[in-house]
Amino acid sequence: MKRILSNLSDASPKELVNQIKAKPGSFIEDSEADRISDQLRTLFSIYQTSNLKSISADEFKQAILSKIGSIDADIEGYSESELDRQRDLSIKYYWGHNHDFGDFKLEGRMGNRHINLLSNFVTYFPISLDDFRQKQIFDIGCWTGGTTLLLAALARNVYAIEEVKKYAETVSFLVKSFNIDNRVSVEPRSLYDCNSEQFYQRFDIAYFPGVIYHLSDPLLALRILFNSLKVGGVILVESAGINVDEPFCRFDGSRIYNRGAKEKLNCGGWKWFIPSPTALYQMMKEAGFDEIQTKWHGARRVYGYGRKVSQIGICKAGLSVPNIM
Ligand SMILES: C[S@@+](CC[C@H](N)C(=O)[O-])C[C@H]1O[C@@H](n2cnc3c(N)ncnc32)[C@H](O)[C@@H]1O
Repeated sequence: MKRILSNLSDASPKELVNQIKAKPGSFIEDSEADRISDQLRTLFSIYQTSNLKSISADEFKQAILSKIGSIDADIEGYSESELDRQRDLSIKYYWGHNHDFGDFKLEGRMGNRHINLLSNFVTYFPISLDDFRQKQIFDIGCWTGGTTLLLAALARNVYAIEEVKKYAETVSFLVKSFNIDNRVSVEPRSLYDCNSEQFYQRFDIAYFPGVIYHLSDPLLALRILFNSLKVGGVILVESAGINVDEPFCRFDGSRIYNRGAKEKLNCGGWKWFIPSPTALYQMMKEAGFDEIQTKWHGARRVYGYGRKVSQIGICKAGLSVPNIM
């Protein structure tokens, strides 16, 4: 701590913030992230049953609790015989992010990730919470909506997608219950179904944590998101990662079970490519992004930031979708 402060002692406040941002994992960086997390927790606390519109607290609680733990292949459009080709969370309903609704609390499988991620993004990269205001945000892989609601508390519009239908339905229900459905829309859709004109140059920020390593074609995903951004738009990516200097990815694929067994509803990670910070950087560059920064984060994660400076082309040779813009 003393060492960091003595190195920074001559800096102006703005330089100080920049120098702090450049020092990964420093004590000051951590306390900046904690300060922002507190701010975000306060913003998120508006989503309590006392602020529900058009539904009673009891009905709301019942509607949510009745889903948790349910198993329903049908709603997802696959049969019982295909369960071994689905992830556990697509089969069984699990709550995603922690949420204190006031009358009741839910602990999610992802804990407070929604708060911590956003606070890390704005601590590590040249973007602030203010940069979300009045913006159109694309939230990819929203699970039960912790991140979607948080972004909605900051931004003008949020468009969220989720490939698992039951979770997309939940997020629509939350958004309607809190009367923000005029600004937030949710669709049960894969990111790979967002490669069409209706998505081109539509968003200011593509918010993309916790998904890229679940995708079989990360480069295509990044290109779809590049195309979905307006010129000047920003992507924020977070992923499981490997901590090596080289531009390497580890390949796990769907047959590796990190925890649990196949018989236990596919508790496998379904992680495909797991990038090092340099590999993520190279993939983002290939997809068209500029001003890229990637950063290793403890607990085996990597963060990335990039800007769409212009609508440049992508190399078409060997591309999985040759007709992509
Ligand atoms: C680990 S969770 C991350 C949730 C949230 N974005 C976060 O970072 O806290 C990944 C989510 O992405 C969804 N997902 C996976 N592949 C997807 C795809 N191709 N299109 C849309 N959503 C997808 C999963 O169903 C899951 O809800």
